[in-house]
Amino acid sequence: MKSSSAKDKRKVLKNKNILLGVTGGAAAYKAVDLTRRLKEEGATVTVIMTDASKNFITPLSLEIASGNRVYSDLFDTPMSHITFPAAADLMVIAPATANIIGKFARGIADDLLSTCLLSFRGKVVIAPAMNWRMYENPIFQKNLQYLISHGVVQVGPEKGSLACGEEGIGRMADVNEIIEAIKSALSNKDLLKERIIVTAGPTREYIDPVRFISNRSSGKMGYAIARAALRRGSEVTLISGPCSLMPPRGLKLVTVETADDMRNAVLQHLPEATVVIMAAAVGDFTPQTKEQTKIEKSDELTMRLKKSPDILSEIGSMRNRPLLIGFAAETGNRLDRARKKLIEKGADIIVFNDVTSAGSGFDVDTNKITIIERDRETALPLMTKEEAAEAILDRVSDLRA
Ligand code: CTP
Repeated sequence: MKSSSAKDKRKVLKNKNILLGVTGGAAAYKAVDLTRRLKEEGATVTVIMTDASKNFITPLSLEIASGNRVYSDLFDTPMSHITFPAAADLMVIAPATANIIGKFARGIADDLLSTCLLSFRGKVVIAPAMNWRMYENPIFQKNLQYLISHGVVQVGPEKGSLACGEEGIGRMADVNEIIEAIKSALSNKDLLKERIIVTAGPTREYIDPVRFISNRSSGKMGYAIARAALRRGSEVTLISGPCSLMPPRGLKLVTVETADDMRNAVLQHLPEATVVIMAAAVGDFTPQTKEQTKIEKSDELTMRLKKSPDILSEIGSMRNRPLLIGFAAETGNRLDRARKKLIEKGADIIVFNDVTSAGSGFDVDTNKITIIERDRETALPLMTKEEAAEAILDRVSDLRA
């Protein structure tokens, strides 16, 4: 049984102290959602508002969301510009106006937030939001690049319709992306040297141009692994079957449909990979013949299927192969089948999960896995797919060290 600190390590935001600066932009209202989401993931959030931000959102909204007092006056709480940053694990400014970015870049400290930024020693994440003319202004860009050159992490902005009614770059990044940037900034970069291929989602085996055989895989486990690997510094190629998930930024995404397509994509990227994680639910059977036109309705239809390529086994039998991780999605507590797959497919790790057990199957955000290796097995409790991804990557990190 792992200690509770090891378990908490997999919850990147658990017990983290986040100092959130909110500045005066139309996106300030999104800080409420950001605060709530950070709290949901176990962080403590202290909000500092600039005076300008109070034109867009009330301190009360952020007080309710954070469950903490909201601060903005430099002289209200003595020494708060030193004590708040000293207690924080990370500072995030969302939205970050051209004004706060300019002040920070020039070392100006004339209110609580700008003073805290100067006294803070940890990672700072900024989510710029402004009109596109301001964003593209070379003076602003110089300030932004200066901050980045000093290790400040920029997330967004996006292109789209802006608060002023114009179209252009300047929309604050989506809250999910800000959270991902925060998690990445707080993550240990232990996979910096790795180039990981992750497969995810189902495959489709076409019967005719409009029908296919597929399965219930949502892709959530594979996408969670890809996100966690990115956060930990790895280069990631995500080879994904059809699914409705947002691919994380910063990775190479290859979309495929059939098991054959997936095999080709994996083999194409294999020479550069140091690790392959086969989280995809690859279809085991494919129609022997694919009709070129739609099959017409009849009282009965008999179809012959043939075995599709087993990608994991193919890589497992290669002489010089990367670290190889497969999944065993079983119906029932069939650890024996998973252990057999480890040997028969030549993998280094098989991640077992019982898709019929509560909270473990398809399209849910949790999973209960057992990490099976030749000489050890680690049964983990029910956890989020994100934590399960971290646990799998912990083993990858140990084995590659
Ligand atoms: N896999 C693969 N190619 C296939 C089928 C599966 O690479 N054609 C990989 C999966 O990505 C997974 C592992 O093999 O990592 C085990 O998949 P699973 O569906 O559990 O096992 P199967 O080999 O398909 O056997 P069965 O369906 O009989 O359990």
